[in-house]
Amino acid sequence: RVGRPLVVAIDGPSGSGKSSVSKEVARRLHLAYLDTGAMYRALTWFCVTSGIDLSDAAAVEQAARDLVLDVSTTPLEEYVRVDGTDVTDAIREPVISAAVSAVATTLGARTELIRRQRALIEKHHRRMVVEGRDITTVVAPGAEVRMLLTASEEARLRRRGIQLGGTQNTEQLAAQVTLRDAKDSTVVNFTQAADGVVTLDSSELDFAKTVDAALVIVTKVLNRD
Ligand code: DC
Repeated sequence: RVGRPLVVAIDGPSGSGKSSVSKEVARRLHLAYLDTGAMYRALTWFCVTSGIDLSDAAAVEQAARDLVLDVSTTPLEEYVRVDGTDVTDAIREPVISAAVSAVATTLGARTELIRRQRALIEKHHRRMVVEGRDITTVVAPGAEVRMLLTASEEARLRRRGIQLGGTQNTEQLAAQVTLRDAKDSTVVNFTQAADGVVTLDSSELDFAKTVDAALVIVTKVLNRD
């Protein structure tokens, strides 16, 4: 199947194990890989460090256009650079995680990042695993394989090392994760599978089993055509 287009679109909430599973699927299928969440995080980092008011939609939209972004498109190496500065770790800081929804819910900024995501897919001759929140529905609705990776709230929090019924601090952390997903889902629906999207529930599966299940879905969809 070398050379034939194979876009694998994977959506899901935070803590569903989406990134690690998507990366491994890309490795096993020898496909390029794009973490679109990293792009929203990079734009957020740029806005925060430039002192841009996140409630100013026009300013955030302009920042999206100005953003000089270099994001890894291979599952073998993770890096994100903004204007030559390595921000791979900085974009995972709590201050960015807390601010990213404000940027991701700015529709004009989404339009610009979606445009860049589509260009990257084309650049890789449509052989790529693309993960995010709106890949199956907006970025690449024509993808050969589209799946929604879900997990129960309990499983998602557990994977983040957050135990329910714990201290007030862990309850607060749990509330933050839930709040971010709630904010994000006001502009993108990643809790229900759209038509033609296969749901993979990883609540009861470990990493290896989830990857295997994802690869089975890819094989099944490919053999259908
Ligand atoms: O997957 P993540 O936690 O790194 O995503 C960071 C943020 O970006 C998250 O709040 C949701 C948002 N996002 C989005 O709105 N659309 C995408 N395709 C990917 C991420």
